[in-house]
Amino acid sequence: MELIETIDELRKRLSGERNVSCVPTMGNIHDGHLSLVKIALENAPLTVTTIFVNRLQFGQGEDFERYPRTFEEDCAKLEAIGNSIVFHPDETQMYPEAQEFYIDPPKVARKLEGRFRPGHFRAVCTVVSKLFNMVQPQSAVFGKKDYQQLAIIRDMVDQFALPIRIVPAETVRADDGLALSSRNRYLSPEERQEAPRLREAIVQIRDAIVEGDRKFVAMEYAAGALLSRHGWNVDYVVVRTRRGLRRPAPGDSDLVILGAATLGVTRLIDNLEVDAP
Ligand code: PAJ
Repeated sequence: MELIETIDELRKRLSGERNVSCVPTMGNIHDGHLSLVKIALENAPLTVTTIFVNRLQFGQGEDFERYPRTFEEDCAKLEAIGNSIVFHPDETQMYPEAQEFYIDPPKVARKLEGRFRPGHFRAVCTVVSKLFNMVQPQSAVFGKKDYQQLAIIRDMVDQFALPIRIVPAETVRADDGLALSSRNRYLSPEERQEAPRLREAIVQIRDAIVEGDRKFVAMEYAAGALLSRHGWNVDYVVVRTRRGLRRPAPGDSDLVILGAATLGVTRLIDNLEVDAP
């Protein structure tokens, strides 16, 4: 596996390559990230996994400083599954001067995560478009774990006519259902035991919808109340349309349940797609 740290070196190495698949990450590689790389490997002979903890997408008081940085282990895991190139720029590469141009995403970026993390998706879109310009991949893989991020990146690629196919990947979970996340390591042993409840609350809503229930607001309220009773600080548990992440209108059947809540100091997100009958 090759390790590349500068844009110059990356451009030289990739010049003439015609089928590259990119997996943008912030490192602390776990099986969720590795599943994306495996999909990238099925899509292209050359995969570029990027590792860059993007300061700009962390809000005031968020966990930028303590975000886990485990570069050596990350490389060992990526090499073991056959990833071709790790691109690991530092801030002098990504932001040689203060970033003043931004990609300003539309209204969908101001709801859900955007409400609780103002400016987050603007920074995500900006860094992802920079990474796309550097790697110039033909495809890129993003996890459904970050459902709103995936939706926004897809729209960005469409609206800017970027010649990149966005490939979605299913969420990889621990045996008890907790979605894998770099932030899970902040959980105390007791919190780790409690953590699968977010998913369970979402699954309950899914089951009710599959049974034909469309009283979405009541379900959302019940899920939030359940989590609060168990000590969670709930940002949202909601049912939305898959496209546009709108409140479902009568007849909408392609839905997704999205949740975000904090346990102790750890903010977790999860979601589940559901086809309403
Ligand atoms: P990061 O949180 O490192 O996630 C990188 C990619 O891995 C994202 O596409 C995310 O959805 C996916 N992922 C995370 N956990 C997953 C899981 N349990 N199963 C499947 N996929 C999972 O998302 C980011 O980084 C950043 O915002 C980034 C796009 C790199 C821009 O800085």
